[in-house]
Amino acid sequence: METIHGHRGGEADLRGRMLVSALGWLVGFGLVAAPALAVEPPKPTPELLTKGKELFKKECSVCHGAEGKGDGPAAYLLFPAPRDFTRGVFKLRSTPSGEPPLASDILRTITEGVPGSAMPGFPQLSEQDRWAIVYHLKKVGNVGEPEKAVTVKGVPPATPKRIARGKALYKDLKCWECHGEKGIGDGPSALTTKDDWGFPNPPNNFPQGVFKGGARPSDIYLRFTTGMDGSAMPSYEDSVRPDDRWSLVHYVKSLSGRRVVRQPGAGTIQAVRVKKLPAGPEDPGWAKVKPSSVPLMVLWQRMQWSHAVQVKAAHDGKRIAFLLAWEDETLGARPLKHHEFADAAALQFVLKPREGGDGPQFTMGDEDALVNIWYWRADREKAGQGSGRNVREGGGGARHSLVVPVAAATDGRGPVARIKRTPPVEDLNALGFGTVTPQSAAEQNVEGRSVRRGKGWAVLFTRTLDGEGPLDVRLAPGGSFPVAFAVCDGGVSDRDGKKAVSTWYTLRFEK
Ligand code: HEC
Ligand code: HEC
Repeated sequence: METIHGHRGGEADLRGRMLVSALGWLVGFGLVAAPALAVEPPKPTPELLTKGKELFKKECSVCHGAEGKGDGPAAYLLFPAPRDFTRGVFKLRSTPSGEPPLASDILRTITEGVPGSAMPGFPQLSEQDRWAIVYHLKKVGNVGEPEKAVTVKGVPPATPKRIARGKALYKDLKCWECHGEKGIGDGPSALTTKDDWGFPNPPNNFPQGVFKGGARPSDIYLRFTTGMDGSAMPSYEDSVRPDDRWSLVHYVKSLSGRRVVRQPGAGTIQAVRVKKLPAGPEDPGWAKVKPSSVPLMVLWQRMQWSHAVQVKAAHDGKRIAFLLAWEDETLGARPLKHHEFADAAALQFVLKPREGGDGPQFTMGDEDALVNIWYWRADREKAGQGSGRNVREGGGGARHSLVVPVAAATDGRGPVARIKRTPPVEDLNALGFGTVTPQSAAEQNVEGRSVRRGKGWAVLFTRTLDGEGPLDVRLAPGGSFPVAFAVCDGGVSDRDGKKAVSTWYTLRFEK
């Protein structure tokens, strides 16, 4: 990567020094508004349809494309691909196979998102706005009214007998051919299943708690009663009795236990005021700060990922410290093997919103919206440290302690030498996907320390509230700021666009 030193030219210059980096950080958008109370569906008036079209353009087109054809600028980063709405096909319905969905099915998808994919939830949009988008989608796909809906009545209890019956059915009905013996999505047919759009269509991992249309027994019952149109998942409405379907539901549920993967949407993280800022990830001072759990979604479907990052934030009026902690069973911190990739994490802030105050919509900010990114990489811990201390492989249960003072990572020859061996936490900017640019050595002012904690990482990021340069986000007590998170699991070859990300959350400062 090219680095330009001592440059403080602001955003115009940043455009000039855009660097093509494959690091795409896809985030959601839409800053937080209070969700409205549930109301009767509004009438699809022309005004509401116009509103729906506008909202779709603003919130959805980056993935689904301006015309809803599934070809937005981010689409190539995503697997499964964003839906092409012009065909009017929906996986998540409570209507029989081949029937259009209920409007409320689409509303539910928009509110909660689709776990196991890059479809975020939009709980921050008012219910009225979400209905407006539903009506727009129905128009785009020429979606009519279904002839009937499947009503789910009374969930029978999950007795051991019923679960055993479900297990036998799972075998007899050959669910395992696609879903695998243990339901992790590795059956012999999983490699060849395709969806109606011609893309590979491997099933998700049940034991991880990934259920696209919700994890309640009634949700799962609907999935194999109605089938998932457009996907390889057939409908069992005609071939399996309702009672047997319930046995299958409870067997499938028993595989995941209480685990439920949720999509990111919107929420608040409190930056609490403390007298003394914690100095490292293991500082006992953190015990007093409540964590916020921020769900992460995958951009590229796979069997396992970090489902959430636990975020703590504290400030002392001058500096802010964040503690990010997440589970990551496959340690990726081996800098010597080039076919492997490093674990990484990032915080993203809006430096300059677009006109009208909206957050940037696209990966790494967008053309008119500049972002500031604080980026940590496990392998650079070692490089920055410049000593022989090594990162041990594998979690192995025993806690591995890797505490590295980042800002102190110079080798005695000053900041220029420092930038050559990139420190573990870097201060970056971006103006859209593919434009990630590190600040100059002199401008680097985010410090960090990390520690391998159990089967995961805990990473501290700290900086002055003000930042110092024109490319640093300015934070202040009393204020609220959009922030988003990303985690890269190098141990499963995460890199570039392959990562788990959140949408925008609100960082609220205590005075
Ligand atoms: C970051 C990318 C992204 C954004 C933004 C996004 N979607 Fe999606 N959406 C997806 C992906 C990927 C899928 C495919 C999920 C799958 O097939 O499992 C999807 C699927 C859907 C589906 C299909 C569900 C079904 O039953 O088959 C609907 C409806 C939908 N999105 C609506 C929206 C709406 C409305 C918005 C904006 C308010 C939106 N999406 C924004 C990525 C996105
Ligand atoms: C031909 C392959 C195939 C067979 C056979 C099959 N499935 Fe599926 N199933 C899939 C695929 C693929 C998906 C995921 C579709 C998607 O997300 O696009 C799926 C999804 C599901 C889901 C929904 C999970 C969610 O995300 O909410 C459930 C539940 C399920 N299958 C259960 C079963 C059961 C039980 C059987 C046997 C009675 C079965 N499947 C048979 C391929 C199959």
